[in-house]
Amino acid sequence: MASIVIVGAQWGDEGKGKIVDLLTQYADVVVRFQGGNNAGHTIVLKGEKFVFHLIPSGILYENKKCIIGSGVVVDPAVLIEEITELKKRGYLKDDSQLMVSEEAHLILPYHRRIDIARDQLFKIGTTGRGIGPAYEDKVARYGIRMVDLMDEGVFRQKLKANLLQKNLYLTEVLKEKGFEFEAILEEYLQYKKEIGKHVKDTSRILYEEIRKGRHILFEGAQGALLDLDHGTYPYVTASNTVSGNACAGSGIGPTMIDSVVGVAKAYTTRVGEGPFPTELKDRIGERIRERGGEYGATTGRPRRCGWFDAVVVNHAIRINGIQEMAITKLDVLSEFDKVKICVGYRINGEILRHVPSNLEILERSEPVYEELDGWKEEVKRSNKISELPLRAQHYLKRIEELIQLKITMVSVGSERNETIEIKNPFQKIG
Ligand code: GDP
Ligand code: IMO
Ligand code: MG
Repeated sequence: MASIVIVGAQWGDEGKGKIVDLLTQYADVVVRFQGGNNAGHTIVLKGEKFVFHLIPSGILYENKKCIIGSGVVVDPAVLIEEITELKKRGYLKDDSQLMVSEEAHLILPYHRRIDIARDQLFKIGTTGRGIGPAYEDKVARYGIRMVDLMDEGVFRQKLKANLLQKNLYLTEVLKEKGFEFEAILEEYLQYKKEIGKHVKDTSRILYEEIRKGRHILFEGAQGALLDLDHGTYPYVTASNTVSGNACAGSGIGPTMIDSVVGVAKAYTTRVGEGPFPTELKDRIGERIRERGGEYGATTGRPRRCGWFDAVVVNHAIRINGIQEMAITKLDVLSEFDKVKICVGYRINGEILRHVPSNLEILERSEPVYEELDGWKEEVKRSNKISELPLRAQHYLKRIEELIQLKITMVSVGSERNETIEIKNPFQKIG
């Protein structure tokens, strides 16, 4: 038995999809445990691009199971779109490959409208997919789950009760249009027909897989600094993105997790609002955006770009219990004369080595940089870390020293095979 959690160690979009796809060759089951279709996980396979918002990034392998756990909020229209697209492209031939927890909560049209309208007021820069409002309903205990949708009577009754208050809130408070009960009912009963076969008691199924000795990969969405409790609140997402939530969000216990792998870019990006100490608003930031194709996989928004921030990644290591690190997009930094790493924040004449909870302090702090020589050479042809340009090796070594962890994977391109030093991470565990 071996279970590994893969999590983002920055503000999301670290290349988790690529790393999960790569490691799925060693796994039997891949599980999403939080978030929803705010996520956009990209895989490039022989020039063909796939972006997954809900379906786990292991789905391109024929004989692997993929589970959307109870901690995920599911927009059924998006799920159906992903399933249809995959089938059109010759994947997901066997429906039993994909399972959705019956305990997962549904995103409804009013969640999306509330999300978009409220973002005008609170300016978090959400993806507008209804994620926050759906989690709010879950915590308030009037959310509607997959299992409710499977029973028309229950769904009708819960939808009716919810719409009463949602329409009032939308029209009276947010000054938006409300929704018709019959229209949503009809739309969702159609979804029920299409996804019903995937809806299962996935906690029980996963438990059985683990007991049979199968290898499980948990695929985090978003990143450490977007965690609801430990991120840059309120500029965060509405779920716990940390590895600990792999348990609650899939219905297994912490004794069943063996290892945690972090994924970080060789630099930093962020989409949406909120503090970002190493952000580069200059030509270098623009060059990183252009070279790295840094535009949101979900919303297409330009991502804010900046230097690697070791303070941020150390925060991620602590709150996730990360034991090894994958560094992605090293190739993007290949054109610069100098590269910088942030090693602390200067504030009121002091140097902080951790991310302060007080956002005002974070916003006012100045990054303290170490400057290293750039390598200005192609890194894509290297098969081993020792074949990388010497200065690129120095860069990675310095990161390893600062984060006090081994970098066990280095990604140098978006293709599955553009990765250095992949070892079977399950082998070490047994
Ligand atoms: P995720 O949300 O963490 O899965 O990451 P995204 O898919 O949102 O963003 C990562 C982007 O970088 C995608 O377009 C990937 O195809 C791409 N990518 C991943 N690894 C590398 C790499 O090593 N080099 C380059 N140039 N692109 C990469
Ligand atoms: P992946 O899994 C990057 C950001 C949004 C916004 C904040 C809240 O692809 O790494 P939300 O819609 O979740 O309420 O928005 O979180 N955000 C992400 N940023 N990658 C993601 O997912 C994100 N999911 C949400 O931009 O700042
Ligand atoms: Mg993404």
